[in-house]
Amino acid sequence: MKNKKMKNERTVKIGIIGLGARTEVLLVSLFAIGGVEISAVCDLSEKAIAKIKDIFTANGKIPPDVYKDYKELLQRSDIEAVMIPTSWNAHLPIAADTMKTGKYAAIEVGGASSTEELWQLVHASEQTGAPCMMLENCCYARNELMILNMVRQGLFGELIHCSGGYEHDLRDSIAVNVESGFERSIHNRYRNCDLYPTHELGPIAKILGINRGNRFLSLTSTASKSRGHGLFARQHYGHGTKYGDIVFNSGDVVTTVIKCAGGETITLTHSVSLPRPYSRNGRVQGTKGLWLEDANGIYIDGISPSIEEIDMAGNPYITHKWDPVESFYEKYDHPIWKDYKDKTVGGHGGMDCLAIMAFLDAVRNKTATPIDVYDCATWMSISCLSEQSIALGSMPVAFPDFTNGKWIKREPALVNKWSLDTVHEECFNVND
Ligand SMILES: NC(=O)c1ccc[n+]([C@@H]2O[C@H](COP(=O)([O-])OP(=O)(O)OC[C@H]3O[C@@H](n4cnc5c(N)ncnc54)[C@H](O)[C@@H]3O)[C@@H](O)[C@H]2O)c1
Repeated sequence: MKNKKMKNERTVKIGIIGLGARTEVLLVSLFAIGGVEISAVCDLSEKAIAKIKDIFTANGKIPPDVYKDYKELLQRSDIEAVMIPTSWNAHLPIAADTMKTGKYAAIEVGGASSTEELWQLVHASEQTGAPCMMLENCCYARNELMILNMVRQGLFGELIHCSGGYEHDLRDSIAVNVESGFERSIHNRYRNCDLYPTHELGPIAKILGINRGNRFLSLTSTASKSRGHGLFARQHYGHGTKYGDIVFNSGDVVTTVIKCAGGETITLTHSVSLPRPYSRNGRVQGTKGLWLEDANGIYIDGISPSIEEIDMAGNPYITHKWDPVESFYEKYDHPIWKDYKDKTVGGHGGMDCLAIMAFLDAVRNKTATPIDVYDCATWMSISCLSEQSIALGSMPVAFPDFTNGKWIKREPALVNKWSLDTVHEECFNVND
């Protein structure tokens, strides 16, 4: 697959605004997939620009044109699409400005600070017709896509409850990067909410048909006390120093419960300041079975083992046993992963590459993106809505309807191999 263009794939010219750590990882995928030319890049920082130019040179690529003012990059008529991996305060207004020049916009993950900036994003897309996609790579993760495939085939029955989390020990970057101005540190210091909801929520929202026949109605959020980052900063800088006694406002564990119009509930957990292994904590549960990520298991009524055992009093009882997730791959892998599993490239086990290919396919063919502006706004609104709920003592907060009623009867969803709403086996040609 390396550097191989798919059939009929014309090369699209793109720009990248924001040249930090994330862009370095994205470049691994962008250099590998072909069919894309990075014509221009932009960052406020000379250092970031120099680093990225070096990466181009080290990979045998001609360094792109560079800009410090993103509005100048947006004036380029040869660029059809712009990827915007800047940080959380910057990417939404830049994406809105990108769409106002008629270009496709791709934003990175993260939550919003206000619903106002999300409305501006939605209005920019509606007024210009330019799409905005979040490069939510976890939507293209193997297990999440297989569960989507199994749900659409009815294996879990009618869906009742889902959960997910961003549970990632990030103390060694967040707690000790306050002085550098690292945005994640600043948000964790001053805000108290679910700051990073989309990795786990994106796949769940697609599975539940959010913005297409279903929608989030309301949420409540509750934050625990905050200790993890503060303790880590004290160990790192020392008690009595400028940053050693810093107070982080964000609770160590923030729990959010969402109620959907279809009656389903979703629980989200945000936890980045306590020691633990990484998990997205996925659970998708219906009337016939469930997937539970942390058990690495799937249980399907009538298919998975139900074994009669005898208790200490000699009475029989039934225990239900998990089937390992991997045991479903052969039959239920999503066609994207059937096609891709032996040729993964790029970051995060290959899912970065898939999200980028999905975006570029839409740009190339001038179609809708599989994650659209309504998805971006809805998923990112969790952060500012959970902030309001926590500030109000876990009061319920209503979701804005970013579709303005269109969720009830939307235009048909994208029909191609990258769709996250439905599964289109017919779009895959194994001989490609
Ligand atoms: N999908 C994933 O798995 C994943 C992983 C890591 C990070 N991310 C996301 O990627 C994004 C970037 O993260 P990062 O770690 O690279 O951040 P970073 O702070 O290292 O880099 C951001 C860069 O954007 C630049 N920037 C900010 N405002 C700008 C502006 N107005 N014009 C031009 N440049 C500007 C900064 O100078 C900086 O170089 C974040 O949204 C983060 O949440 C996603």
